[in-house]
Amino acid sequence: MSKSVQIEPVIGLIGGSGLYDIDGLEDKEWRRVETPWGEPSDELLFGRLKGVRCVFLPRHGRGHPIPPSELNFRANIDALKRSGVTDIVSLSAVGSLRDDLPPGTFVLVDQFIDRSFARKKSFFGRGCVAHVGMAEPTSARMGDVIMAEAANMELNMQRGGTYLVMEGPQFSTRAESELYRQWGCSVIGMTNMPEAKLAREAEICYASIAMVTDYDCWHDEHDNVTVEAVVAVMKRNAERARALVKAVIPPLGKKRGLCPSGAERALDHAIITAPDA
Ligand code: ADE
Repeated sequence: MSKSVQIEPVIGLIGGSGLYDIDGLEDKEWRRVETPWGEPSDELLFGRLKGVRCVFLPRHGRGHPIPPSELNFRANIDALKRSGVTDIVSLSAVGSLRDDLPPGTFVLVDQFIDRSFARKKSFFGRGCVAHVGMAEPTSARMGDVIMAEAANMELNMQRGGTYLVMEGPQFSTRAESELYRQWGCSVIGMTNMPEAKLAREAEICYASIAMVTDYDCWHDEHDNVTVEAVVAVMKRNAERARALVKAVIPPLGKKRGLCPSGAERALDHAIITAPDA
């Protein structure tokens, strides 16, 4: 692997509930991006922040019309790839599975357990079979930048945590919530998979900022999760999320070498189908 590779980053942002724009973005333009996988969730917002090229996609569409199971994850990731994105910062609302991660906490997720089942999860399939590595699903290089900016802002952000991805749209039963806690999961949400898997197949570095809105339904001293509670905390989280996004884009946009996660070379040895099969 050459050490002299220099990458000109283009930062992709996938915003969850409550995040529909990037503060301070210049030369803004919403543009439709076509993909062979169908329609992405919405138009993509192109622009620059302090000279760094950025592309923003509201995950559920503006106004939140698309439920998690109906997101076209392949079109979303492919649209970002076609727009030149090299690094994705994914933001999402999650429930907490741990006492020490109260609502309002941000978690820089570094592992996932994927319990989603009704979604298209790969760009590959019959005719071209590929298996990319997912041992390290997120970028520690991006994580270093995000943690440094969070510390500058005195933001309550925990580094590392396992995100349980459930199918939804209903919230978990108490038995499920307890089970995920026994598995050592930190947070629960409905959207980061197959997003992270497809980003890896597209050779895009991926970082996930999970914003805690509730204690799901396992906590004796807190109410069970409701949309009302999620939205109320999300509104409070959104302002800090917007400030964090604005802060991380300039340093993420600095020229750099390859990511230790191996994301940019994920397909080098992944395709197993013989070329003439
Ligand atoms: N998003 C926010 N809170 C959640 C929860 N408790 N379960 C699943 N997704 C969520």
